Amino acid sequence: MSEKKRMLSGIQPSGELTLGSYLGAIRNWSERSDQFDCYYFMADLHTITVRQVPADLRRRTLSQLAAYIACGLDPEKNTLFIQSHVPQHAQLGWVLDCYTMFGELSRMTQFKAKSAQHAENINAGLFTYPCLMAADILLYQADLVPVGEDQKQHCELTRDIATRFNNVYGDVFTVPEPYIAKVGARIMSLSTPENKMSKSDTDPNGCVYLLDEANVMMKKFKRAVTDSEMDVRFDPVNKPGISNLMQIYSCATGRDYAAIEAEFAGQGYGSFKKAVGEATVEMCRPIREETQRLLKDKAYLESVYRSGAEKAGYIANKTLRKVYKKVGFVQP
Ligand code: TYM
Repeated sequence: MSEKKRMLSGIQPSGELTLGSYLGAIRNWSERSDQFDCYYFMADLHTITVRQVPADLRRRTLSQLAAYIACGLDPEKNTLFIQSHVPQHAQLGWVLDCYTMFGELSRMTQFKAKSAQHAENINAGLFTYPCLMAADILLYQADLVPVGEDQKQHCELTRDIATRFNNVYGDVFTVPEPYIAKVGARIMSLSTPENKMSKSDTDPNGCVYLLDEANVMMKKFKRAVTDSEMDVRFDPVNKPGISNLMQIYSCATGRDYAAIEAEFAGQGYGSFKKAVGEATVEMCRPIREETQRLLKDKAYLESVYRSGAEKAGYIANKTLRKVYKKVGFVQP
């Protein structure tokens, strides 16, 4: 068994991968494949809290797997799997439902936002979603969970649930830490920079998709909402649009905010937006090309998710057995 610390994260294939999920999450995963024992999955069980078109969900799940690999997650070094292939997620999810308080779930920002967005379908799964997410993490005894800022609250709840369970039954779960990058943890919409960039955004100009063609991406950046001033300066409160573009540019080029301010001093927003667009296109180009290539090789993708589910299932089963025993279920 590996002595390395364990890292785990997932993304819902409820929409195409966005620049936000790449910069906030995936990019930080691939940098650490050698240092950690890594598990990354397509969180398909989570997606049905909102109605999905089945064929689209299937297509996006495979495309997400291809994109994970194209982003540098080598399946030899990272366990890549589809959540619904490992039934222990749903099984532990149920147990954790019974160790999570109604009040705790009611406070979740994502639940409040999604209930407002889907008022016609506020289902029980949407409410208990954080318990399934806790199960995803705790099943693997993960030490570190690399996510964007918006998932911090769910990670903190996971810690509370793990601690509560451990207090009753002894050391069953590793209490995980969220890992949130300094730059890129909250990428905002290009058209309404007060809001998070989101795959469910109804405004097509607000959200940049990782697999957008270069001309589509450039157009979105050229239309990005800025402000009535002239200077490229990092000030998220007064200049949310420009600051967001600076964040993206910093991620794409590795330059810090002071260097970016100096680079564009005295130039208008037009040339800055063009530079951010070009840098993003160049960052995403190899990922798009490699994803498209991998998507043609269905047999390879299938071999990756099958062996991923086998490896993941082995660990998940060990944790679930322990949990079942602790709570008093008769062993089969
Ligand atoms: P999801 O699918 O909404 O987002 C996937 C990951 O991308 C990050 N992210 C962003 N980061 C920066 N800026 C943005 N605009 C942006 N949009 C998304 C998210 O923080 C996340 O890291 N519940 C999770 C999926 C999940 C999960 C898990 C994550 C299920 N089980 C277990 C970690 C561990 C979700 O809905 O993320």
